[in-house]
Amino acid sequence: MRRRNDYDDREPIAISWGTLKSLIPYLLEYKPRIILALSCLVAAKLASVGLPFILKYIVDDLDGIHDGGRTALMAMPLGLLLAYGAVRFANVLFGEVRDTIFGRVTERAMRRIGLKVFEHLHSLDLEFHLNRSTGGLSRDIERGVSGISFIMRFMVFNIGPTLLEISLVIGLLLINYEVWFAIITLVAVVVYIAFSVVATEWRTGFVRAANKADSESNSRAVDSLLNYETVKYFGNEQYEADKYDQDLGQWESARRKNRLSLFALNGGQSLIVALAMTSMMVLAAFNVSQESMTIGDFVLVNAFMMQLFMPLNFLGFVYREMKGSLANIERMFRLLHQVPKISDKENAAPLNVSRGEIRFNQVDFGYQDERPILKQVSFTVSPGQKLAVVGSSGAGKSTLVKLLYRFYDVSGGEIMIDGQDIRDVSQHSLRQAIGIVPQDTVLFNTTIYENVRYGRIDATAEEITAAIRMAHLDHFIRQLPKGLETVVGERGLKLSGGEKQRVAIARAILKKPPIMVFDEATSSLDSKSEQIILKALKEVAEGHTSLVIAHRLSTIVDADRIVVMQDGAIVETGNHQQLLALNGFYAQLWRVQQSERSKDESSEVAGMNEALK
Ligand SMILES: Nc1ncnc2c1ncn2[C@@H]1O[C@H](COP(=O)(O)OP(=O)(O)O)[C@@H](O)[C@H]1O
Ligand SMILES: [Mg+2]
Repeated sequence: MRRRNDYDDREPIAISWGTLKSLIPYLLEYKPRIILALSCLVAAKLASVGLPFILKYIVDDLDGIHDGGRTALMAMPLGLLLAYGAVRFANVLFGEVRDTIFGRVTERAMRRIGLKVFEHLHSLDLEFHLNRSTGGLSRDIERGVSGISFIMRFMVFNIGPTLLEISLVIGLLLINYEVWFAIITLVAVVVYIAFSVVATEWRTGFVRAANKADSESNSRAVDSLLNYETVKYFGNEQYEADKYDQDLGQWESARRKNRLSLFALNGGQSLIVALAMTSMMVLAAFNVSQESMTIGDFVLVNAFMMQLFMPLNFLGFVYREMKGSLANIERMFRLLHQVPKISDKENAAPLNVSRGEIRFNQVDFGYQDERPILKQVSFTVSPGQKLAVVGSSGAGKSTLVKLLYRFYDVSGGEIMIDGQDIRDVSQHSLRQAIGIVPQDTVLFNTTIYENVRYGRIDATAEEITAAIRMAHLDHFIRQLPKGLETVVGERGLKLSGGEKQRVAIARAILKKPPIMVFDEATSSLDSKSEQIILKALKEVAEGHTSLVIAHRLSTIVDADRIVVMQDGAIVETGNHQQLLALNGFYAQLWRVQQSERSKDESSEVAGMNEALK
């Protein structure tokens, strides 16, 4: 089993142009639209190639007017001028129509892919998510999706048309003029493209470094802001700012190199264009002076050159952006190809819960191979019974729950629910069957009502208020000015630990699963609220199989069975009385907690007496 951090893919990515191929299926959804867009494209290009010709005739006509016969020829240039305007307008119009038509295709593809990645991320295992920073992940998606939009637009609307135009122009030059015009154009275009590609390749490292620095500084900022409170507790604002500034410094220097290399690229390109233009003009001027070309021809050659190199100007940019976009898309697709460590078997049947028996059978597990956490853990929770797990912090209690939910697979032994190995059933049905009040409840940044409803999305308003009442959350909600509509803040930070836990309890009540898990569900409550909640929990657990992980032993004295864990192994089992009689770890823990409790109570009484005086 590989349990290294093998998700770190921020390293350079070798671009496979095959990535482009994987985009095709997303394009095919709108075939007619694409055909229409392509026709517009060809029409626009034909119009743009026609323009210099019209220009030539206009100039030649005007030139002819100079030589004499003014009146007779007056009608000609007027018609040509109108045609020139019309063709120019058509050129722009076709371009706009094409963009408008194709926009829909791009956006639909972006939507489809965005959704697919999102769903996939949810299907990946917990370990993947613990190893990745959420900030970095969401940037990867964002970049990937905008990369798709870029590739589509520029593939179809820049690279393709430009190549079409180049061939048309070279062909026309070849037919109409000396062969040298075509040769110069061809050489210039080839040199230009070759230079752009080579220079862009050379720059890629700088661009990538800048992107990486950008992403890193962003992750850092997000992480730091998520830990806002912690930063304040320790007064480490300056430290955080310094670290962020270090990252920003790296970003700045990466951007500088990036910019200088861009300067080299643009400079080189301009030089090639200037040389080509000059030689064409010289050649054309020479021909005009020899009277083998008209002034109109001179203007036409000039117009062709301008028209040709204008889109090529963007070539370096487009090529680089395309490569960048491809890398971003690839990175996103790599997320898509990330195989979840935990996945359903083929044709996995849904879990069939008839009685709700949970059995851990000689379970071994470690998050890393080198560090075993659970060792040969075996216990059974009989249907409808309450089994408690106690033990010191870090003993592996919460790990039991993660395994039961199949966030990880056991490395030895098996976990069975009603005789079915949980690896054989579908994860959805498994998780559907279990309700949990977790150790740390994280809430969505929306209203309390919505957060409770999350327990069962299709619950009615009455069911939701009933669950809230059962979780003893109603008293708290009545104190809030906005009541149920109070927004809880990011991760639920505006609620206290106990309030969050009560939301979690209400959710679990709403879910009504056959199996309930409480992971230190009352640990953040004071003893008075704990009593109330315990009563609620007892009502909830009624008729359910429940696994209760407890810190305070007083909350589990009524458990049918108690399992005592130490360092990932079960050291004692029995009910409360039996364990006390055993006089081992449990009995010791019990005595410690009892004496603490009586101390607490006596100090409470003392405090009250103090106040009464
Ligand atoms: N995702 C994880 N990766 C590596 N180690 C972990 C992970 N989660 C928990 N651990 C380790 O496993 C041990 C048991 O954790 P846990 O089951 O949460 O203990 P507790 O009994 O307090 O609930 C702890 O030492 C903890 O550091
Ligand atoms: Mg725990």
